[in-house]
Amino acid sequence: MDLFDLTGRTAVVTGGSRGIGLMIARGLLQAGATVVLSSRKADACEQARADLLAGGWAQDRVLTVPADLSTEAECRRLASVVGEHTDGVHVLVNNAGATWGAPLEDFPASGWDKVLDLNLKSPFFLTRSFLPLLEADATADDPARVINIGSIDGLRVPGVPNYSYSASKAALHHLTRVLAAELGPRHVTVNAVAPGPFETKMMAATLEEHGDAIAATSPLGRIGRPDDMAGVAVFLSSRAASYVTGAVIPVDGGISTTC
Ligand SMILES: NC(=O)c1ccc[n+]([C@@H]2O[C@H](COP(=O)([O-])OP(=O)(O)OC[C@H]3O[C@@H](n4cnc5c(N)ncnc54)[C@H](OP(=O)(O)O)[C@@H]3O)[C@@H](O)[C@H]2O)c1
Repeated sequence: MDLFDLTGRTAVVTGGSRGIGLMIARGLLQAGATVVLSSRKADACEQARADLLAGGWAQDRVLTVPADLSTEAECRRLASVVGEHTDGVHVLVNNAGATWGAPLEDFPASGWDKVLDLNLKSPFFLTRSFLPLLEADATADDPARVINIGSIDGLRVPGVPNYSYSASKAALHHLTRVLAAELGPRHVTVNAVAPGPFETKMMAATLEEHGDAIAATSPLGRIGRPDDMAGVAVFLSSRAASYVTGAVIPVDGGISTTC
């Protein structure tokens, strides 16, 4: 269905070396896009690239640009390096994220700085840095896309002491709406995805201990699968979502809306 076809598009996925970012990158690649993966570790990016290319895609369909995106300088550098490879970017997925858990009395200032720098400030700096590339290919009928990866922890009160994380995700959801209002007239949509539990390094310990109980809280009785995340990312990147902006879409088996 050409409604979901991304052939000829370029998509940048931060935190694309593993987990949800890699799930999204694979989906966009399969839908026809060229994908640029970025994370801090060059070897992890290369491994992810090799994993993706094992699907038989042309070598130039997956690029890697390692960067520590917790600083504005690195966000700007990523956009600049991507700009050396392409005249336009159709999709920016702000996915790289970190969490921090500690009891209230012990929660350190560094647990705020690290999490807010990466989860909240970085999507802002990246969106601003990529704007010239996003606008280059965008039209009223075919807007460019920014997809922020939030969390259901930003929609409801989480059951774990992750103060800076849940606050960063609630703020990211609101930043999504603020930027959607500002960038709509510039032909860029801005949406957020709020994942529920997905099997990744970030969630490994939690799911190992509480996976069955967490799955049971969902009306659908399971945790998320790679296709669940690929599907929403392809939708938001495609012609099918040209009229969707400022939305925060839970992909959580109904946990945040029914529990
Ligand atoms: N898994 C879930 O159930 C779940 C639920 C809700 C929301 N989310 C959100 O989904 C996103 C991805 O999470 P995940 O579960 O896939 O986590 P993950 O497995 O820990 O992956 C995080 C990714 O971000 C990269 N990264 C970390 N720090 C970075 C930095 N300073 N600069 C650039 N890249 C950095 C990591 O690669 P390097 O180490 O190489 O930098 C990795 O590619 C996050 O925003 C998270 O909050 C996840």
